[in-house]
Amino acid sequence: MRDTRNIVILTGAGISAESGLATFRGPDGLWEGYRVEDVCTPEALRRDPELVLGFYDARRAALGAVVPNAAHAALGRLDAEWKGGLLIVTQNVDDLHERGGAKRLIHIHGELLSALCRACGGREAFAGDMIDGPACASCGADALRPDIVFFGEIPYEMETIQDAVSEADLFVSIGTSGAVYPAAGFVRIARAAGAETLELNLDPSEGSHWFGESRTGPASVLVPEWVDEVLARQG
Ligand code: APR
Repeated sequence: MRDTRNIVILTGAGISAESGLATFRGPDGLWEGYRVEDVCTPEALRRDPELVLGFYDARRAALGAVVPNAAHAALGRLDAEWKGGLLIVTQNVDDLHERGGAKRLIHIHGELLSALCRACGGREAFAGDMIDGPACASCGADALRPDIVFFGEIPYEMETIQDAVSEADLFVSIGTSGAVYPAAGFVRIARAAGAETLELNLDPSEGSHWFGESRTGPASVLVPEWVDEVLARQG
């Protein structure tokens, strides 16, 4: 096993499940109640902006009622104490990683607490309801949309992420079903680059067979245990 210097961690909805946020594909998952085509595509936003903006307004409002769990806090501790390279790539659009202390973090699918202007392309921190048609802080246009990567759109910061995954010594996946690309393909890039690969998930995912090791259980238990292990390696 080569020295572990550069770590890349991919997280999904499962890491926020114990904080009370629904996953997408589990029982009571978001995609049980809504069709992706109705709330998570550019076409849906054009066809029925009320439904789409309302869907994300409700998810944004729900953030106020939840707090980070032990898994978020453990990754915040790792971020503070790990002297080597670290990048947390989250598919989640909630802000629980930040509230758990993570700094070396990329939201590959966007953020609920950010708005994107369709007129000028500007981005701004956003905490209210978009359904009321707030004006863009930069250009004044009533053209804000959720700063979320819809299906069919290009995920954020792909070059930075792919460079980090290709240089990782250790790639860890937490709380994701491995159903959505390009994130579901990162484990193969990491493996091809000779990285150690570890999955921490409640159930085996669609990509479990790509991982050198898979541990099953709740993130709030598995992640703090793993962080203790990897910090102990640092010596
Ligand atoms: N601890 C660890 N893992 C958990 C927990 C938990 N407490 N609860 C659920 N899980 C696991 C499930 O076993 C499942 O494999 O988390 C995974 C959640 O999978 P999905 O609901 O498919 O969510 P995710 O993988 O993040 O979805 C990927 O799909 O819909 C799009 O853009 C959306 O970012 C999202 C992407």
